[in-house]
Amino acid sequence: MSPAHDDETPPPGSEVTAGLRDEHALILRGTVALERCGARLAASGGSDPVEVDRLTALLAFFRDFADIRHHGKEEEALIPSVISSGVAPNADTLRDVMDEHLLVKELLLQLTSGDRATLVAVIPRFAGFLREHMQLEERVLFPFVERTLDAATKLRVQREFDQIDARAGTAEAFASYERLIDELLVPLNELGVSPTR
Ligand SMILES: [Fe+2]
Ligand SMILES: [Fe+2]
Repeated sequence: MSPAHDDETPPPGSEVTAGLRDEHALILRGTVALERCGARLAASGGSDPVEVDRLTALLAFFRDFADIRHHGKEEEALIPSVISSGVAPNADTLRDVMDEHLLVKELLLQLTSGDRATLVAVIPRFAGFLREHMQLEERVLFPFVERTLDAATKLRVQREFDQIDARAGTAEAFASYERLIDELLVPLNELGVSPTR
């Protein structure tokens, strides 16, 4: 999904947004796992307890990892640093990103508090929307950040990212989410289908 790096963009590994791109990759895999579990739950008439348990764990991942941790980094550290720089990628991009985070939160609420029919119905919209949101950030916001912010600002943003990581949860907890998603995507891998599309 990541766009090719052009001459203006530092290579991966030296970017302050590199960690966010890594998180996108895991969230992207999570959306595929979510869609697969949702489709299996729908095929069972909403009654398969194994899929219900898997979906409950996946939704906890989207809440803890995608919303609280990942969007927290973008909203509390990255976007304020862009605003402080005095130059925005364009008038609408930052507002769009923030508005989309709110919609992700709203859809997550529907997924976690609705009945199983709602769950099955909302999953495709949630997964597709989240993918489009990450594409917008990778196409527009992240390259802008890398080109525009100076080294001292990037260092400060990285420290804020580290603080949010420490506040949001343990590395072990997130590793367990990663294992869950890997396990759910094993059948895809065995078929030679890329889970990241
Ligand atoms: Fe975002
Ligand atoms: Fe993001």
